Amino acid sequence: MNIKNLSFLLAVITVLASCDINEGPRRGGPNNGNVEDEISALPMTQDYPADNPYSVEKTNLGKMLFWDPIMSGKKDIACVSCHHPDFGYADGIDLPLGVGGVGLGINRTGGTLVKRNAPTIINTGFNGIDNDGNYSHSDAPMFWDNRVKSLELQAIHPMLSKEEMRGELISETAIIDTLINRLNNIPQYKSLFTAAFGSEGITEDRIGKAIATFERTIMANNSRFDQYMRGDDNALSNQEIDGMNRFVAIGCADCHGGAMFSDYELHTIGVPNHNLVTDEGATGDFDFRTPTLRNLTFTAPYMHNGQFESLEDVLEFYEDASQGRENRINNQLDARDLDNDIRNLNLRGNDHDEIIAFLRALSDDSFDKTVPESVPSKLPVGGNIQ
Ligand code: HEC
Ligand code: HEC
Repeated sequence: MNIKNLSFLLAVITVLASCDINEGPRRGGPNNGNVEDEISALPMTQDYPADNPYSVEKTNLGKMLFWDPIMSGKKDIACVSCHHPDFGYADGIDLPLGVGGVGLGINRTGGTLVKRNAPTIINTGFNGIDNDGNYSHSDAPMFWDNRVKSLELQAIHPMLSKEEMRGELISETAIIDTLINRLNNIPQYKSLFTAAFGSEGITEDRIGKAIATFERTIMANNSRFDQYMRGDDNALSNQEIDGMNRFVAIGCADCHGGAMFSDYELHTIGVPNHNLVTDEGATGDFDFRTPTLRNLTFTAPYMHNGQFESLEDVLEFYEDASQGRENRINNQLDARDLDNDIRNLNLRGNDHDEIIAFLRALSDDSFDKTVPESVPSKLPVGGNIQ
C-alpha cells in the first residue's frame, strides 16, 4: 500500500470514528431495524380458558362481585376501591389504603396501609403473553413478584388479605366460607350464580371464575401503537415513531418486549425504597416483575411502591441508574447489583421527550368504565369510596 492510499484509509477511519462519537447508535441501524421482532400489537380479541369459557351472565356476575363490598370482612371495601376505572383500574396513589379506608385516589384517608402499589387490571387477561403472541391462562403470572398464576386463583387473594379486604375480625381460614354464606343469603346472587354456571351453587372456584371472566373483558387493545402495527402508518406521529425506535434501540424492549411490553420476568432495577416500607421483592434481591407499559397515562404513580410521580421521573431514574449514579438507586444496593440490561441502557437526556411521547401512544381509553347502579347486597357501590 503506498502512502497516498494509506492516508486515504486513515481519513476514512477517522470519519467513521467521529460519526460514532457524535451520533451514538445510529437510527435505522442494526439495533432498531427489528422493532417488529421486539414489540407488537395485542390480539384483536381475548380468548378464554376451556374450563372457564366466556358468557355474558358470568361477566355480569364477576362485575357485581368486583364492585360489591360484601366481599370484604367489614363490608367496607371492594376490588374496585384499588382498581377503579377513573384511574385506569389502578388507584392513583403510591401505596393503597385498604380495610377501613374512606374515599378514592389521593382523597382516600384512613385504612390499612398495603405495602405495594396497585397495578392496573386492564389487559391482565393477556399476562404472560410472549413475543409470538402465545399465552396460557393457567400459567398467567400475577403480582409484582409473580407469586400466583392465573386470574382465577389471584381473585381470591385480596379477600384473604388482612390489609386489603379481610380485616382482623374474621380469620384467614374462615373468610371464604363467611363470604359464601353471605352470598347464599342474597337471592339475587343465588340466581346470578345459577345463570352463570348452569347449575345451583356458590363456591370459591366459581367466585374466582366469575371475577376472572369479568377481568378478561377489561381490555384496551386498540392504542394508536396497535393501529400503527396493524398497518395504519398515520396512527403515530414522527416524534412517537422516533421514540419507538429509540425505545427498542437503547434496550428498553429487552425487558419491556412483546405485546404487553413485559417479559414477565423478575429484575433488580434499583428503585429506591418507600419511606414507609422496605420491600425486598420476590427473592430478597429487590427484584420485581417487569410491569406492562400500556395505559401509563392513567396509572401514575409508577413502580412497585409508587415512588415516581411522572414518566419524566422514571426516565431520569433510568438514566442515572444506567450510568451507575448510586445516590439515585435503592441505598441497599450498589451499581453492580443492578440487572445487566439496566447497566447497558444507552439513554440520553435528549431521548426523554420522544420516548415519553411513544409511551403515551400505548394508552387506549376505550376500556369499560361503566359503574353499576347498584350491587345485589344493596351496600354502597364500590364500598366507602364516595
Ligand atoms: C386495598 C387495595 C386492593 C384491593 C381491595 C384489591 N387489590 Fe388487587 N392488587 C392490589 C395490590 C397492591 C396488588 C399488587 C400486590 C403484589 O404484587 O403483591 C394487586 C394486584 C392485583 C392483580 C395482579 C395484576 C398483575 O398484573 O399482576 C389483580 C388481577 C388484582 N389485583 C385483582 C383484584 C381483585 C379481583 C380484587 C377483589 C377481589 C382486588 N384486586 C382487590 C391492591 C388491591
Ligand atoms: C432489566 C429490565 C428492564 C429494562 C431494561 C427496563 N425496564 Fe422498565 N421496569 C422494569 C422493572 C422490573 C420495573 C418495575 C421495577 C419496580 O417496581 O421496582 C420497571 C418499571 C418501569 C416503569 C413503571 C411502570 C409502572 O406501571 O409502574 C416504566 C414507565 C418503565 N419501566 C419504562 C422503561 C423504559 C422507558 C425503559 C428504557 C429506558 C425501561 N423501562 C427499561 C424492567 C426494566
